[in-house]
Amino acid sequence: MTTQASANHTAKVIGVTVAAAVGGFLFGFDSSVINGAVDAIQGHFVLGEFLTGFTVAIALLGCAAGAWFAGGLADRWGRKKVMLLGSFLFIVSSIGSGLAFSVPDLMVWRVLGGLGIGIASVIAPAYIAEISPARMRGSLASLQQLAITVGIFAALLSDAVLANSAGGASNDYWFGIEAWRWMFIVGVVPAVVYGVLALLIPESPRYLVGQHLDEEAARVLAEVTGELHPDERIHEIRLTLRKEKQSSFADIRGPRFGLQPLVWVGIIMAVLQQFVGINAIFYYSTTLWKSVGFSESQSFTTSVITSVINVVMTFVAILFVDRVGRRNLLMAGSIGMFVGLLLAAVAFSQQIGSGDDVSLPEPWGVVALIGANLFVVFFAATWGPVMWVLLGEMFPNRMRAMALGIGTAANWVANFVISLMFPQLTEWVGLSIVYGGFAFFAAVSFFFVKAKIPETKGLELEDMKF
Ligand code: GLC
Repeated sequence: MTTQASANHTAKVIGVTVAAAVGGFLFGFDSSVINGAVDAIQGHFVLGEFLTGFTVAIALLGCAAGAWFAGGLADRWGRKKVMLLGSFLFIVSSIGSGLAFSVPDLMVWRVLGGLGIGIASVIAPAYIAEISPARMRGSLASLQQLAITVGIFAALLSDAVLANSAGGASNDYWFGIEAWRWMFIVGVVPAVVYGVLALLIPESPRYLVGQHLDEEAARVLAEVTGELHPDERIHEIRLTLRKEKQSSFADIRGPRFGLQPLVWVGIIMAVLQQFVGINAIFYYSTTLWKSVGFSESQSFTTSVITSVINVVMTFVAILFVDRVGRRNLLMAGSIGMFVGLLLAAVAFSQQIGSGDDVSLPEPWGVVALIGANLFVVFFAATWGPVMWVLLGEMFPNRMRAMALGIGTAANWVANFVISLMFPQLTEWVGLSIVYGGFAFFAAVSFFFVKAKIPETKGLELEDMKF
């Protein structure tokens, strides 16, 4: 299909993508902001280890539910209205969590925020894939992951700045309430920005065609993506939508274990992205580094460095995903992640001491640091963004919304399982074996990509027919 790659159109489509990707920022910010608040919450509400872990992880169940429903809602209401719903949920959950007076109350707000995160995690890749010209779709879709990583980094900094402004600790008071409450409340700002931007961006042309608003769809295609023959494109979209009319569970149902093989590929890819243990690093970094003998400030510095690496390395995917392709990036990533995780596992096995008094004798502390950060380097350049790119685009139109929702929900459930089990597993079998397990899944991910994942580089969404 012919598109006109003028600088003006490129700027427009990037602008619209960035607006949608603010959902990614909130995904990153809201899912990791609790890290800085968790100790204070534990103290304030007098929680044991299990309830503390549960308060952290329960939002992830909200994410899974939000992801599950987002696709269907987006087909019924349009993409923009679903983004507005996400923005609303982010706003109420930020204020509610910040002012929570009991643990059940806090959990309800966290789950509502989780619903917002789940919605954003489906709607951003779907909208970006639908609005992008094929030649740059991978790079544009990777901007969502860039926003997620910036959100994680912003939460880390914002938590530290707020704790410091209040007097050093997250339960110190600042302007009448404790710092940990502010950590949630400041999330209102990006949530409002997201809502305002959702009002300003155009509706997805694929949704508009489904609503028989062809003129508006043609205008969006011509203005934003620089489509030279919008009418032809609308005709193609209409052909695929005609099949999509019956889009429901029937479309994803298949002979193998009840689902179409491609839907299973999406689910397994989404689960593997979590089973390599990325969030064991992001949600528990400070605890992780303290457990191998780093001081409080060394642990914080390490978390900041890891978070910056996570942001910067995402650019590798943005630059290369449309050139070298999705499969090559994923396979290279699996190898690099495997090496990093194995190094970390070997280093952690050298741990000495017990209880609170543990350390890694030199040079193993450095080896663990290098291993873990090497893992993040490769994850951020490959599996972090590319998994989201693929989920947004790999399914044929007739099953896209449904399959994307299911794959994303599976990603959140896997995230929940790892986040909930990581502290417990570490206590039972030790960090080294847990990291050995993550390395095992990195190895599995290589063979899985090689055998099962289709290459989607440069293909139009209408041409996904695996
Ligand atoms: C990906 C993962 C998410 C993780 C993030 C880290 O987006 O899906 O769970 O927190 O990368 O950058």
